[in-house]
Amino acid sequence: MFNDASIKEIAEIRTKYPNSRAALLPALYVAQREYGWLSPEAYEAVADLLNVPKATARGVGTFYAMYKQKPMGRHLIQLCTNVSCMILGAERLIDFLKNKYGIEPGGISPDGRFSLVIMECIGACGTAPAMLINDDFYENLNEINLDEILGKYQ
Ligand code: FES
Repeated sequence: MFNDASIKEIAEIRTKYPNSRAALLPALYVAQREYGWLSPEAYEAVADLLNVPKATARGVGTFYAMYKQKPMGRHLIQLCTNVSCMILGAERLIDFLKNKYGIEPGGISPDGRFSLVIMECIGACGTAPAMLINDDFYENLNEINLDEILGKYQ
């Protein structure tokens, strides 16, 4: 399932930890980065590479929200709707994403371009509403600049 570069990367990760179980989190991250989510095959491949039980790999991966258990869009929008963001318009942004891009929270846009996940506070309350797209951070959002930002992600 993994390409040679990923196999090598996971082998290098393994050398940095005292045992295989400790290397599970970064190894699962490599799998998710390569495939977009952690399929049953991904769990199996990581478990085989690290020589840990498959149930252990799955138990670790399903514990953390950062690991995705179902297919995702090409780009992941993580929008905060906690108190500051909610007061400053996050709910309107969700409506905008639903109406213009057909994305529901927890879902994928019909064209497979975006996934939307609702986040707890991401530490930008003073410049709310805020979000991440993949690893990129955005703040002071409104419907207009959100639309411009999304245009960068095809
Ligand atoms: S409430 Fe949204 S960043 Fe803090």
